[in-house]
Amino acid sequence: MRTDSPQTIYRKDYTPPSFLVDSVELGFDLDPARTVVASRIHLRHNPASASRSIELHGEHIELVMVRLNGKVLKPSQYKLTAGMLTIPKAPDEVLLDIETVLAPQDNTSLSGLYVSNHNFFTQCEAEGFRRITFFPDRPDVMAKYTVMLRADKEQYPVLLSNGNLIEEGDLGDGRHYAKWEDPFKKPSYLFALVAARLVCQEERYTLKSGREVLLQVWVEDGNLDKTDYAMQSLKNSIRWDEERFGLELDLDRFMIVAVGDFNMGAMENKGLNIFNTKYVLANSRVATDVDYAGIEAVVGHEYFHNWTGNRVTCRDWFQLSLKEGLTVFRDQEFSADMIGTDTGRAVTRIDQVRTLRQAQFPEDAGPMAHPVRPDSFVEINNFYTVTIYEKGAEVVRMYQTLVSRDGFRKGMDLYFERHDGQAVQCDDFRAAMADANGRDFTQFERWYSQAGTPIVKASTRYDTASRTFELTLAQSCPATPGQAKKLPFHIPVTVGLLAADGRDLPLHVDGVAADGATSVVLELTQASQTFRFTNVAEAPVPSLLRDFSAPVVLEYGYTDAELLHLFRHDSDPVNRWEAGQRLAMERLLKLTGAVAAGETLALDDTFIAAQRALLADDTLDPAFRELALILPSETIIAERMAQVDPQAIHAARQFMRRTIAAALKPEWLAQYHANQTPGEYSPDALSAGKRALKNLALSYLLIAPEAAELDLARLQFDNAGNMTDRAAALAALIHSGSQPHAQAALTSFYSDFENEALVVDKWFAMQAAAPTTDVQAVRQLMTHPAFTLKNPNRARSLIFNFTNGNPSQFHAQDGSGYAFWAEQVIALDALNPQVAARLARSMDRWRRYVPALQGSMRDALEKVAGQASLSNDVMEVVSKALA
Ligand code: PHE
Ligand code: ZN
Repeated sequence: MRTDSPQTIYRKDYTPPSFLVDSVELGFDLDPARTVVASRIHLRHNPASASRSIELHGEHIELVMVRLNGKVLKPSQYKLTAGMLTIPKAPDEVLLDIETVLAPQDNTSLSGLYVSNHNFFTQCEAEGFRRITFFPDRPDVMAKYTVMLRADKEQYPVLLSNGNLIEEGDLGDGRHYAKWEDPFKKPSYLFALVAARLVCQEERYTLKSGREVLLQVWVEDGNLDKTDYAMQSLKNSIRWDEERFGLELDLDRFMIVAVGDFNMGAMENKGLNIFNTKYVLANSRVATDVDYAGIEAVVGHEYFHNWTGNRVTCRDWFQLSLKEGLTVFRDQEFSADMIGTDTGRAVTRIDQVRTLRQAQFPEDAGPMAHPVRPDSFVEINNFYTVTIYEKGAEVVRMYQTLVSRDGFRKGMDLYFERHDGQAVQCDDFRAAMADANGRDFTQFERWYSQAGTPIVKASTRYDTASRTFELTLAQSCPATPGQAKKLPFHIPVTVGLLAADGRDLPLHVDGVAADGATSVVLELTQASQTFRFTNVAEAPVPSLLRDFSAPVVLEYGYTDAELLHLFRHDSDPVNRWEAGQRLAMERLLKLTGAVAAGETLALDDTFIAAQRALLADDTLDPAFRELALILPSETIIAERMAQVDPQAIHAARQFMRRTIAAALKPEWLAQYHANQTPGEYSPDALSAGKRALKNLALSYLLIAPEAAELDLARLQFDNAGNMTDRAAALAALIHSGSQPHAQAALTSFYSDFENEALVVDKWFAMQAAAPTTDVQAVRQLMTHPAFTLKNPNRARSLIFNFTNGNPSQFHAQDGSGYAFWAEQVIALDALNPQVAARLARSMDRWRRYVPALQGSMRDALEKVAGQASLSNDVMEVVSKALA
């Protein structure tokens, strides 16, 4: 057991920095075993601070020398602790020269300066810069950077940093140098360097203003055939931000660099975005439609950070969602606009709702629940969460729902007018939105301060005589750690009313400007409120929370008939999808109960008929049909149960899938053939939607396959012209339960793609998530020569996909899955605490499981918590789980 207790950091303890930094000059002599960093910092006392001590963060580095205004300091003149170098009683203006030494090749945490495949990369967000040199490593200290890189020319021909290249040349001794200058002041977390053997695709691009910029995508030799889509996505992002928000690229040069070892998706370093290869490399041979969509979204996301994050940054890390929630919202809107159609937009929205329910709602109901703007944390790296990102994006989206797209744009303009070049808070964004639109968003602040997913209960009453329809909305929010009681939220609830013929009724609402529109945004601000619709010609079916207008759980006693009506007719595609999910969920919950009680299982014809009608409805976008036909996941079902029995959920869902497969076999086959995409591969939304529906059909056809279906899958596997179809066929074979077919395909897939790391990840991932893969099989896969815990993508592909994506095996009755989890968390923690802490989160909801499982889950958690040396990262997660 660790004896020191990790320190909690509180938002309320914020104090301004004692010294500000005007500029910094960094010199790097790069060597994998011993890199020397010389830093010259120009500091100035901050009048807003009473302290005269210079506080410089630093960890895992060796301090060689520190000089203040030209004089070398003796150890008695400063204090050096585990994380901080403090120089007391400093004068107003200070020039500091600091020399540090580090060993990038030993840095397995991938934070700070590290080596990946013999190349140098940095990752400084959130607190990695302090692993490079001593510095006030906090986002409210913004400075101008000049960077000199020196390295062996043969091994590291490419030397990159932020901003503009101002000088380069040879040093004579086989080494060369490059000098970079970033004209914009920035916090240290946005610093980056790359020293590597790489090649690039580059292009000159003309901005709307006529200015020309240089765009580059840097990858390892041999991957230049996989950079087109990232480059195209970058150009689309630049254009989109100009058009939608009037925001122009402020640099003459913008670089994306791909690296195979990376903890997260990508990083928005100023002018030098560093990406996980997963979000850069794509061609039809190796990448799926989902990969393509991910690249577009992440390239957009990082590019959009240039304004929302970099030009305006965060005062402190509690404000993380200020940049992340806003930037996720922006990348979501970008992806939706790139498709362009209304259903396309709805399809992206449905995906967002699924992510929220799959990951954010559980987080918000578990031991790591935290507000969008947290009040405290132990390790900031644990707070790059779905709450900060996805719920944060929902909060931003609600402003737009409340003030309209034009109003939102006005708010954004005012935000930049007020705060360009500053490090600010979530409250500043809220104020800009309010002031630009003449709105009072005081109560809206609770979306930032209160954790937990609100529940909105709806009830209705139609009065035939007066032709009025009353909608009562009552809100509540469950307790979360540290927050027992919640105050009412300001919730936009978009509502429509459907007539018996399925059409939208024109709306008139007392006290709300609806003017006969077919959708209206109601603002729920009280604990309970009644809205009165007038002139309602007939008893309507309400379509509530259209477009998922708020991140809440909506409860309403819909009858099957009402849901079927919405599923057939709702003009809001998101709610149409939602009606189908409700129909399925009710049945899944009943079936799960029946499994647990040992009763016989049955699925009604009404439900099957609705599925059949939707599947065969060729007037509907295939992408939409695919989403509407996917059943709620086992995780989402689990969230609806007071006591989770993973085996019963799995059996119930499998029964439903088997029944649908058998009942709709001719329809699945017809759709399989109708949605082929012959010709050259294109990742556009329509083609991707067709492939998605076709491959869903294939997966249903292979649930209980005969020879003909197995042949169909094998044929698709062998002849696929793209990875989407090949991977889908492989997955279908793996899930078919036919071991020989699955094994044959797996073997050939591996030998075809063993040199494509991202495809090998898929190979591991598909096996990890198959319900036929038990913990023993995962252990076996870990002995495969291609497996390593050191590479985060690889670790995630096998281990995380097992613990998070294969619930019926992970939760094996004997607890073997949990013991395995504990071992892997401990092993990973020694290499990479950030990744280990993510894996630790797999046990978050342990108290929700049936008693038979809870005991062994607790044992596993305690085993991890009892380790002698545990990172703060993992310690925070497991101790909160056990608390
Ligand atoms: N800021 C990055 C993003 O959201 C994510 C990230 C965080 C990357 C921390 C690395 C480390 O785009
Ligand atoms: Zn981001």
